[in-house]
Amino acid sequence: MGMTRLKVGIVGKRGAAAIAGFRAVPGVEVVAMCDAHRPTAEAEAQAHGIGATFTEMSAMLPHVDAVVIGTPMQLHVSQAIEALDAKKHVLSEVTAAVSFEECDALLATVRRSGQRYMMSENYCYFPENLAVREMVREGLFGEPYFGEGEYIHDVRFLHFNTDGSPTWRAKWQVGINGNTYCTHELGPVMQWFSAYDPEDRPATVTCLGTGVRTDPRHPHEDSTITLVKTVKGRLIKLRLDMMSNTPGMTFYSLQGIHGTFESGRGGSVGSRIWLGENKSVSWNDEPRKWEPFAPYLDRHLPTDYAKYRSAAGGSGHMGGDFHCSRIFAESILADREPDIDVVTSLRWTAVGLASQQSIAQGGVPVAVPSYD
Ligand SMILES: NC(=O)c1ccc[n+]([C@@H]2O[C@H](COP(=O)([O-])OP(=O)(O)OC[C@H]3O[C@@H](n4cnc5c(N)ncnc54)[C@H](O)[C@@H]3O)[C@@H](O)[C@H]2O)c1
Repeated sequence: MGMTRLKVGIVGKRGAAAIAGFRAVPGVEVVAMCDAHRPTAEAEAQAHGIGATFTEMSAMLPHVDAVVIGTPMQLHVSQAIEALDAKKHVLSEVTAAVSFEECDALLATVRRSGQRYMMSENYCYFPENLAVREMVREGLFGEPYFGEGEYIHDVRFLHFNTDGSPTWRAKWQVGINGNTYCTHELGPVMQWFSAYDPEDRPATVTCLGTGVRTDPRHPHEDSTITLVKTVKGRLIKLRLDMMSNTPGMTFYSLQGIHGTFESGRGGSVGSRIWLGENKSVSWNDEPRKWEPFAPYLDRHLPTDYAKYRSAAGGSGHMGGDFHCSRIFAESILADREPDIDVVTSLRWTAVGLASQQSIAQGGVPVAVPSYD
């Protein structure tokens, strides 16, 4: 049975990005803000008009029905398990877990608890990525069989505190080699493949890197390429780079039998599409021509997202933050699984964990568990 009201508590200041989406859902109230750093908890609570502040999640849990976990990656699973065991629903920041053991423990706890779990993979809800998903569902690309996702973001400034001590990112993102932050790259593409074929999922992963280049203090190779082979034989190419000296950001592409989508680099400027018949074109035929994607975005953004376009547009990550919390809350109130349920979250997260094993062995293929 669904609930009619939902009281939410936020853990870790990044979780505040979820507030606007919660406030768009009738019956949902953000009642508590928790951050281990008290001045941060108080400042966030004040900025967002939240009544109660905490510095420990355990003290907050009795006051809420659901938590948003916006703390560093290595805390996600232990905090999710504590909340689930206390019969709270969980919306977790990415990635879901930092080891295969944690993946297994999280899955077992979600199943045992009967509570809802969603990973907040906000890049899936970029308007363009949603419109492409809809076009896949409508069959406009035919069968999709190749996709690319890139997350290129120079966050070297986040690897050390002002006193020179390392932050959690120095250990958990660039203190490990391989794809330590894979879901922004993978989620949107896997979401497109699943829209065509719900049975598809990552099967094996192989990963190679460029070598350590711009910051030799970390063992993490600047750029890694992770190839994901799916159980249905499709291929995805991921590039992660959190250090290179470049203005780059995100990039996505999709190839289907009837067309191609390519996003702009770091936004929708330059996004383009080609759709057409599956036939061989000789040199003398009319060459294939790209079209700008913007008119397709207007036509194919699903109505349940389009109606929130102005409300979501003002929130972070092109509205992605807004939709994650909105969808999570709506799924709890309607007593149904959220889009990015625990199995999906773990399959995506495990691609990165498998890449770390692959790169350590020179790029050998490593299997991704199904979490069925
Ligand atoms: N989805 C996205 O677009 C996106 C963007 C940025 C960060 N993130 C994710 O959000 C998470 C946080 O990243 P960040 O950049 O905000 O990190 P950060 O280090 O800037 O902030 C972490 C916050 O968590 C608090 N904290 C630490 N331990 C805590 C505990 N036990 N209980 C309560 N609070 C605690 C800290 O005081 C700090 O305020 C990470 O998992 C990161 O991957 C996601």
